[in-house]
Amino acid sequence: MSQLLPAARSDVPAIAPAFPAAPPEPAAAVTTVPGARTAVVGLGYVGLPTSLALVASGARVIGVDISPDRLDDIRADRADLLDDDRDRLRETLRAADPALRLTTAIGEIADADTVLICVPTPVDRHLAPDLTALRAACAAVVAHARPGQTIVLTSTSYVGTTRDLLVAPLAARGLRVGQEVWVAFAPERVDPGNDRHRQELTPRVVGGTTPDCTARAAAALARITPLVHRLSSPEAAEMTKLLENTFRAVNIALANEFADLCRDLHLDVTEVIDGADTKPYGFMAFQPGPGVGGHCIPCDPHYLLWQVRGQRREAPLIETAMRGIAARPRRVVDRIRELLAGAGRPLLGARVLIAGVTYKPGVADVRESPALEIIGELVRAGAEVGFVDDLVDTVRTPDGGTLHRVADHTDREWDLVVVHTGQSGLDEAWLRGQPMVLDATYRLAGLPRREVV
Ligand SMILES: NC(=O)c1ccc[n+]([C@@H]2O[C@H](COP(=O)([O-])OP(=O)(O)OC[C@H]3O[C@@H](n4cnc5c(N)ncnc54)[C@H](O)[C@@H]3O)[C@@H](O)[C@H]2O)c1
Repeated sequence: MSQLLPAARSDVPAIAPAFPAAPPEPAAAVTTVPGARTAVVGLGYVGLPTSLALVASGARVIGVDISPDRLDDIRADRADLLDDDRDRLRETLRAADPALRLTTAIGEIADADTVLICVPTPVDRHLAPDLTALRAACAAVVAHARPGQTIVLTSTSYVGTTRDLLVAPLAARGLRVGQEVWVAFAPERVDPGNDRHRQELTPRVVGGTTPDCTARAAAALARITPLVHRLSSPEAAEMTKLLENTFRAVNIALANEFADLCRDLHLDVTEVIDGADTKPYGFMAFQPGPGVGGHCIPCDPHYLLWQVRGQRREAPLIETAMRGIAARPRRVVDRIRELLAGAGRPLLGARVLIAGVTYKPGVADVRESPALEIIGELVRAGAEVGFVDDLVDTVRTPDGGTLHRVADHTDREWDLVVVHTGQSGLDEAWLRGQPMVLDATYRLAGLPRREVV
């Protein structure tokens, strides 16, 4: 891999130049109908809705997932989907000749003209990128790639991933990228649980290894949305995704800091944010909360920080924001301790109910949810902790403990209710009768005996 800077560690890639030595070739005509037969590798929160959008465009889709359990859940209608997508899935699978073929056999991608890779890219417990799934998926795709295919990586990752895990191994296999196979990066913007940002209406960015790679990938993505913005390289597209999610992380950290400052100044941070949000330019509202979860905001900036560290460089603003974000759940626990102490109760033995444990409303996803750390810390401190969430039956805390949803939370007495996620179905009338509520969503102004973090 060519490098702009000498990499200080051999396992941390440096940023490759946008276009290596060879001049870009003129765009060749696209000969097949792009995306008419698409393989989607990884059918999770991103890959499944993407497959359904492709089916809706008239494509035939080969949905490949390494997990037979995941495929069983999809077949049995247990996948967490928006209502429209759920209807689409039922209709698709009921058809005599379903346009979505589900399989664990990666070799079936040979039937596709386009391959989209959407596998998870989490961080490990040291906040370093965990590339296990991505490396495995890319290696399998490379092993089964055939001339004529367009391969589009969509998983969020470090700058240079597309070249490292697809372009170089394809070339090593003897497949000429830009002539026999076409490779691009097009980051995902699926927003699970939110039907205001539908895929059809959400622009995609794409950067190919050559202009022809970009053109082919853009044509395939145009099946999902007509709004495709072309960039000059996979690296520009990879960095675009890292900017989007780092921007959110930094702004959420800032909103949390403002929430703390406003509390000290006896101000309502929501009123302040709403006030600032009346400005029609130069301001974008972000909300404070109990921390961040999911597989984007708590993870993606660490892909960038890891790469920057490898180059012996610093990104102090991002590092500070990520430290603030990581510390937020513990701050919630400190606030719980403080509020209970104010009511003359130690945390030991206190009855604390967490309302909502998913990382955001409307999804059943608890990955990296701040609630897990909050529950774990409270249990360790000896509190009697329960949770309620219409979408979740059981949670596992970071230290391996398991907690089941409280069946009868309204029949029991709680010293403190922590509203962690504003799931629909939260009974506000019941909440009004509670002795003390810690509103970590900052959305329940007007509730009696309400405290904020
Ligand atoms: N979830 C989101 O809100 C969101 C939004 C935008 C981008 N992204 C990014 O999209 C990517 C996918 O995220 P997700 O949330 O869909 O993940 P996910 O965990 O929901 O799903 C990934 C799926 O990939 C499968 N898988 C893992 N390894 C595989 C392999 N080698 N071959 C085939 N299948 C394999 C898993 O079994 C799982 O079903 C990540 O890079 C994520 O950062 C996620």
